[in-house]
Amino acid sequence: MLVCSCNFITAKEIEDTIVALLDEDCWQLIVPSKVYHAMAKRGRCCGCFPNVVDIIIRTTERYHLEHPSTEAEMFDFMSRLKRFHEEQRRADIERRQKSHRAA
Ligand code: FES
Repeated sequence: MLVCSCNFITAKEIEDTIVALLDEDCWQLIVPSKVYHAMAKRGRCCGCFPNVVDIIIRTTERYHLEHPSTEAEMFDFMSRLKRFHEEQRRADIERRQKSHRAA
């Protein structure tokens, strides 16, 4: 399934990149720009980023279910990840509203 029409990136390519990043450091926080940078791509319209965030959350959750870690470690990590992505999403919305007002 095509996720990013600007860069022609599929969900599978994004998932594979996320898994590669998690293999390097399974506790790092992953954001869309980090995934795109690892793929030598960059966000253009960034309209795909909310879907990429959902893929990051799903893939990271599955990765940690498949790899040994305590439930407490996983719960803490997923809480931090969701909070971080919510903050990013809120900041993005504020940025868009400010730029819309300026126009
Ligand atoms: S749809 Fe991904 S950057 Fe535009």
